[in-house]
Amino acid sequence: MTTEIVPVNEDYFKNKVFELGKIIREGGLVSFPTETVYGLGANALDAEAAIKTYAAKGRPSDNPLIVHVADKEEVSRYVKKVTPLEEKLMKAFWPGPLTIVFPKKDIIPKETSGGLDTIAIRCPANEATRALIRAAGVPISGPSANISTRPSPTTAKDVYHDMNGRIEAIIDDGPCRIGVESTVIGIENGEIVIYRPGGITLEMLSAFAPARVDSALATGSAHPKAPGMKYRHYAPSAPLTVYTGDRIEVAKEILSFARKKDKTYGFFVSSEIAEKLEPGLPVFVWGSRDSQESFAHNLFSGLLYFNQHPVDQIIGEGTDTKGLGLAIMNRLTKASGYHIVVEKKERN
Ligand code: TXA
Ligand code: MG
Repeated sequence: MTTEIVPVNEDYFKNKVFELGKIIREGGLVSFPTETVYGLGANALDAEAAIKTYAAKGRPSDNPLIVHVADKEEVSRYVKKVTPLEEKLMKAFWPGPLTIVFPKKDIIPKETSGGLDTIAIRCPANEATRALIRAAGVPISGPSANISTRPSPTTAKDVYHDMNGRIEAIIDDGPCRIGVESTVIGIENGEIVIYRPGGITLEMLSAFAPARVDSALATGSAHPKAPGMKYRHYAPSAPLTVYTGDRIEVAKEILSFARKKDKTYGFFVSSEIAEKLEPGLPVFVWGSRDSQESFAHNLFSGLLYFNQHPVDQIIGEGTDTKGLGLAIMNRLTKASGYHIVVEKKERN
């Protein structure tokens, strides 16, 4: 199979989107852009299409797919019940990076829901993708369009690298604005529970109801509510250790690796630390410390950078867990295989 790259332009909205919609409706796979990461799109009502999706990603089939809709009015076709709180959250955050878990109707096959009786639904903010969902005439399931265990793709080129020859087409709408995946939530006894932190923060959700993070996420338990959280994820090509906590201590620690000659170290750091590194070292700058937005935006391309520029060990600089930082540190925790070092302020 050759994988076609389709740019988003006038011809896309006039013609191409209908061709791609038909491919999806008839059981094919098309990668689509969103504000978070690129998705691997398939007909969410078609069990065979879900099986193909798992095969293309090399993903375990007990890890459910997120279903994408073009408008919140479509949700009641696929779920048994929408509560007033869920209604409010959809109104506030859709289209956007919030995924809500609902009890599913039988029209959604078990293959799409990974065997669960619930289904995770979101309405992405990208216009080319919402047009694709409308043209397909079916909801579109979409895991991130990477090979399982690898970092999520935030450009069409990243998708092409993993999916060339495995899918029919990739819709190229440039780099994803946010860069980390959507926040996955469920409502439990009137409380908002975050199963996967993402683009919509705990702080933003707390304005609507009491909100907390699934305790399995904090403790690394084997039974998180989002099955995907238990698998190895986002792994770069070299081992990664992330330093976070007191800024001065973090800088000291990271700079000490720049002087070591025992192996090749790559640095995945803020511009503030990068400035202090001697020129010529392998460095990827995720942005200024003051911008978690730029950190999120560059997070996955930074991890993938070291696939193209191989090193023996990646030394990363983390951030605090407020706002988007919760999602960033969640991804870095997984990418590093839990190699997170928290630096404390030195006392003297
Ligand atoms: O931003 C995103 O959400 C992207 C774009 C493409 O929309 N999609 C994405 O899908 O990240 P994926 O399949 O890579 O991650 C889906 C996550 C997994 O952790 C999965 O376990 C969880 O959502 N999930 C899906 N259905 C669920 C359900 N019924 N209950 C709990 N967690 C669920
Ligand atoms: Mg994923």
